[in-house]
Amino acid sequence: MNIAVVGTGYVGLVTGVGLSAIGHHVTCIDIDEEKVNKMKQGISPIFEPGLEDLMKENILADRLHFTTNYADTFLNLDIVYIAVGTPENEDGTANLTFIDKVVDQIAYYTKKEIIVVTKSTVPVGTNHYIKDKLTKQNPNVAFEVVSNPEFLREGSAVYDVFHGSRIVIGSDSEAAAEVMHQVNEPFGIPIFKTDTCSAEMIKYASNAFLATKISFINEIANVCEKVNADIEEVALGMGLDNRIGSQFLKAGIGYGGSCFPKDTKALKQIADEVDYEFGLLNAVIEFNNKQRKKLLNQALLDFDSLAGKNIGILGLAFKPDTDDIREAASLEIIPELVKMGANVKAYDPVAMDNAKKVLPAEVTYVDSPTLALADTDLVFILTEWADIRDLPLSTFENQMRNSNVYDGRNCFSQKDIQQSNLQSYYSIGRAAKRQEVLV
Ligand code: UDX
Repeated sequence: MNIAVVGTGYVGLVTGVGLSAIGHHVTCIDIDEEKVNKMKQGISPIFEPGLEDLMKENILADRLHFTTNYADTFLNLDIVYIAVGTPENEDGTANLTFIDKVVDQIAYYTKKEIIVVTKSTVPVGTNHYIKDKLTKQNPNVAFEVVSNPEFLREGSAVYDVFHGSRIVIGSDSEAAAEVMHQVNEPFGIPIFKTDTCSAEMIKYASNAFLATKISFINEIANVCEKVNADIEEVALGMGLDNRIGSQFLKAGIGYGGSCFPKDTKALKQIADEVDYEFGLLNAVIEFNNKQRKKLLNQALLDFDSLAGKNIGILGLAFKPDTDDIREAASLEIIPELVKMGANVKAYDPVAMDNAKKVLPAEVTYVDSPTLALADTDLVFILTEWADIRDLPLSTFENQMRNSNVYDGRNCFSQKDIQQSNLQSYYSIGRAAKRQEVLV
């Protein structure tokens, strides 16, 4: 099959590379010429484990191409994927400006029958809107439209493209759905075919459900703290029930990233527009906003003031194995600390360049977790990177001026904490090692 993928963000690029790896001829289109030139050499614009190797392999095999040129790409094309961003409008609705622009281009350049596949996360009904728009602009061509939502996790996107739990194909055309079935069959992942609107809803409902699961376990964690239960034990015990499942029961400082915050708000808007008050989802969103500030609020309870304190930050990315800082807890906490007059020193293995663009200029960046701890009064652990989880607790004791540790990702076991000489340790949902006097 000749396939084009428009948009080379992490969804478009990983999808394009994945489709080429199973044997299709894929051209990825992007408007950014500099980015396209780099990708032609196998250089990925995003940090995603395994991606560059797979890009290079498929470029060499002549199955994967990059271009800014629609005209040439559309000369002989069977399928075009739309994988551009649908950022959040101020009111929480999904912004379809990029989708509209791509649809205009597809209508303009398509000369023969084509299947248009929407990978971007779009409000329910958008695929019907896309089909109407294409048909109005170019009535000579038979366009079929398929919703094919993505479920890729950042940091494991390459793994997920080959090992995902399902591929959802939503179309009102049986013929188009069948072609898409054949295109995706080599991935060896279960394929679920359904109608277009249901496919669009599956994406929002899945992300909203996972966000709810995280908020639920975080609320249980907050209760555990008060009743002397241990959230790690509680989550293990709950997860043994297959109906609950053990995944997404990791308590912490809330969810972030490019999907959950945006998609939960978009689903709330979708419900609002049809006059349905989605109370549960509203609570999930509001609770998560509070949870992201939990460490800061705890530190403010423990100390009269954080002004003048030396504070280390371990981890800036919204989760490990990515340089993405969108909606990360670090963006909530660090500006507040700076405003309060704290001296902030931060470390992240890959996200520091992105963080420098948006965090206050007063923040100092260091190249190792140990340097981030040196001479500090408090440390906030915001991302559970392996090199942070693997730090011996003696490093905290030896490097910090006052070893007060606020661990938002429960990186250390209760046993290790009990045996340590840390001055204080606070984590989420566990009876913490607390001492009366904090310095
Ligand atoms: C998510 C979905 O998993 C993916 O299917 C979707 O298409 C895109 O959004 P992603 O945002 O990359 O993927 O990360 P994910 O691993 O799902 O984590 C999202 C957030 O939830 C992170 O901030 C993570 O720290 C948090 N999380 C996750 C928890 O706090 N606890 C958990 O148990 C799991």
